[in-house]
Amino acid sequence: MKTFSKPPLTIDFTNAINPGPAGAGAIAAPILNEAIVKELKLALADNYRMRETGEIAWAELPHEAQAIADQSVVFAKTIRNDFENFVQMGIGGSALGAQAVLEAVGHPYANLTNQRPRMFVADNIDPDQLNGLFDVADPKKTCYHIVTKSGSTPETMAQLFIVLDRIKAAVGDNWRKHLYITTDPKVGALKKWAVEENLPTLHIPPKVGGRFSVLTSVGLLPAAVAGMDVYAMLEGAKWMQIRCWHENPEQNPAAWLAALLVRADRELGIKMFVMMPYSSRLYRMGDWFRQLWAESIGKRYDRDGKEIFVGTTPIKALGATDQHSQVQLYVEGPKDKLTIFVEAPFDGEVKIPIGLPGDKALAYLEGHGMGELLLTELRATERAIAKAGRPSITIKLSGHNPEAVGAFLYLWEVTTALAGSMYNINAFDQPGVEAGKITTAALLGKPGMEAEADAINKELAAFKKIVV
Ligand code: PA5
Repeated sequence: MKTFSKPPLTIDFTNAINPGPAGAGAIAAPILNEAIVKELKLALADNYRMRETGEIAWAELPHEAQAIADQSVVFAKTIRNDFENFVQMGIGGSALGAQAVLEAVGHPYANLTNQRPRMFVADNIDPDQLNGLFDVADPKKTCYHIVTKSGSTPETMAQLFIVLDRIKAAVGDNWRKHLYITTDPKVGALKKWAVEENLPTLHIPPKVGGRFSVLTSVGLLPAAVAGMDVYAMLEGAKWMQIRCWHENPEQNPAAWLAALLVRADRELGIKMFVMMPYSSRLYRMGDWFRQLWAESIGKRYDRDGKEIFVGTTPIKALGATDQHSQVQLYVEGPKDKLTIFVEAPFDGEVKIPIGLPGDKALAYLEGHGMGELLLTELRATERAIAKAGRPSITIKLSGHNPEAVGAFLYLWEVTTALAGSMYNINAFDQPGVEAGKITTAALLGKPGMEAEADAINKELAAFKKIVV
């Protein structure tokens, strides 16, 4: 196991317990009080049990994904040689992690540099966007990575059908070369078809759910294609794995985070968490976190079947951009948010030169760095939010590097699992998402769903229309 001269990630909890005049809005110190430590120990035990039974196989990925990483690197070599464009098609957990990793580690304008292949993640089924993609990425020169754990998600399967048609039209019998598949090893129509057509296929282990799958080929293949060190990403996750399963909550960063977030909800009525990186390259991490937290923690029933309507809403914001959009609300609006600042040293600095000769008012900017300005603004916003009596924490990554990204992703996965146990919910299902999928299929005429379609149409017809 790799040792790091500098930790890939640290978390500063100072402003969670010290905000505001006379501590108003603070979490009562200590964060790990006796009661919460007891609860965390139970949550850890619950998750140790699920690790033991293999129910949360994502927890083993830092080690178990080595073979997936090897295969991803092999596939990536061919893809890098043969194609000008790489398009990942998937939605939710099959897209957000890949996008977050590509942006966090890659060049901010990678597709406009000479880097080949150019990287795209096409998650939404917006026809204008898809037509636009075909305009800029000729299917003849494009490799498509189709990602769907279930192998039946309508958005992704519709994209596959369209792409298949386009590739066949462009290259005829050579179409197979343009497709790579990531799906469940056994179930789903996609897996069956991939076997029949002998397509290069990677697997998401059966007990790894979509939003916990970033450390499989869902995230590793695009990262390898973009030339990133996927082994370093797993090393960062391994580093975090040791810490996040530590049985002593005091030494476990995921336990600290889960304690804070659950206590903020229960004791301060904080129902929103704002993830606010001060780095444009880390902005997409907020998208990944939103899905992970929202789908895992937003639940109607607890594990005993009791209706509880539990959940806190994850929000993403970007520093400094949202200082000129959202921060007014965060500082002076309702005390219903906890801010999770994220920062990382920048790869380079841009010096601010002398600006307006003879002007004194703005001369204070001159000679400083752009990154220095941004991080000073972060310190200023941390302080403004604390002084207004609202809790925040700051996560510091060691850089925009794969190790730190691997550690960050794994940290939040375990935090989410522990919070799920503390709320006594199943953090790994998403029944609220399934309902929408069923309605869509029925309305589009899926065979066998005629009765459902009828019932839905009757229900819609009975609504009193209000169109203004
Ligand atoms: O976390 C989940 O399981 C979901 O959000 C899925 O990622 C999303 O619905 C896509 O599913 P699939 O990968 O099966 O296409």
